[in-house]
Amino acid sequence: MESGSIHSTRHGRAPMADNRHIRTAVFPVAGRGTRFLPATKASPKEMLPIVDRPLIQYAVDEALAAGAERLVFITGASKRAIEDHFDRDDELQRLLESQGKTELAEQLKRMLPSYATCIYIRQPAPLGLGHAVLCARAAINHEPFFVHLADDLIAADVPCLKQMAGSFEQHGGSVLGVEEVARRDTDKYGIVEVEDARSTVSRIHGIVEKPKPDVARSTLAVVGRYVLTPRIFTELERVEKGSGAEIQLTDGIAALMRHESVFAHRFTGRRFDCGSKLGYLQATVEMSLAHPVLGDDFRAYLKGVAGRLD
Ligand code: G1P
Repeated sequence: MESGSIHSTRHGRAPMADNRHIRTAVFPVAGRGTRFLPATKASPKEMLPIVDRPLIQYAVDEALAAGAERLVFITGASKRAIEDHFDRDDELQRLLESQGKTELAEQLKRMLPSYATCIYIRQPAPLGLGHAVLCARAAINHEPFFVHLADDLIAADVPCLKQMAGSFEQHGGSVLGVEEVARRDTDKYGIVEVEDARSTVSRIHGIVEKPKPDVARSTLAVVGRYVLTPRIFTELERVEKGSGAEIQLTDGIAALMRHESVFAHRFTGRRFDCGSKLGYLQATVEMSLAHPVLGDDFRAYLKGVAGRLD
């Protein structure tokens, strides 16, 4: 199977890694974001801002906070803006400095730590999330890695991937971020069955991609956070097209479970489905309320709005 072309931007030297440390995060960003058209016609959906940061920046910040140093973006058509976003822009730096906007200039410089490396791999065709992850193989070797879907924004005191990295350290197997969803929504998610439904981390014994509500065996849904062991690549190479006639990551994980334990982690935090307009608006409101500079003014504004509603 084709696995895309690679180029990378190095931002400095990475610190030494120990074998428990997950160094690499994969961001599948090849989807066209049709639900947000026309906003996403010429600009990637991952560049939609929540207050003043694009979704992909929240994603990268979360992965960095969990210890990642290599950031692998699986890109597709119209995604150049993501590369530009994480690239240095000396002209802009000089302009901001000449205008005395030194704090803003510093903030832009700090966007990526010096040790972070960005790697861009082009997915040759939109063949599904499983195929997108398989495209990352050449950049990963034989190490565990994170997968982060930027649509799912998770506000948490301890970043979600960091919580999951802790579970990986403890249990050693792949870890999927999960949360309960309404039964009517099971056909939007990978749905898992776990050994112990009450514990925060539990071994998975079944996973199905987007089951209909009347046949779903649970309502515990996989959200866009994964720690995966490298064996997933062997499995993804073999899986047939599944739901939506795509190579599904869920089917690769189901195959992986025949060889290794896979765990579900009920993360602590609040998830916003920024792939839907309502979820995106909810995230914008909540992040604005929590914003250190805007928060108070925005709260006062919302109170005024609430007063005008029935
Ligand atoms: C993908 C996965 C699904 C997972 C979901 C989380 O679906 O295939 O298993 O539950 O992300 O957001 P998508 O939303 O790309 O259709």
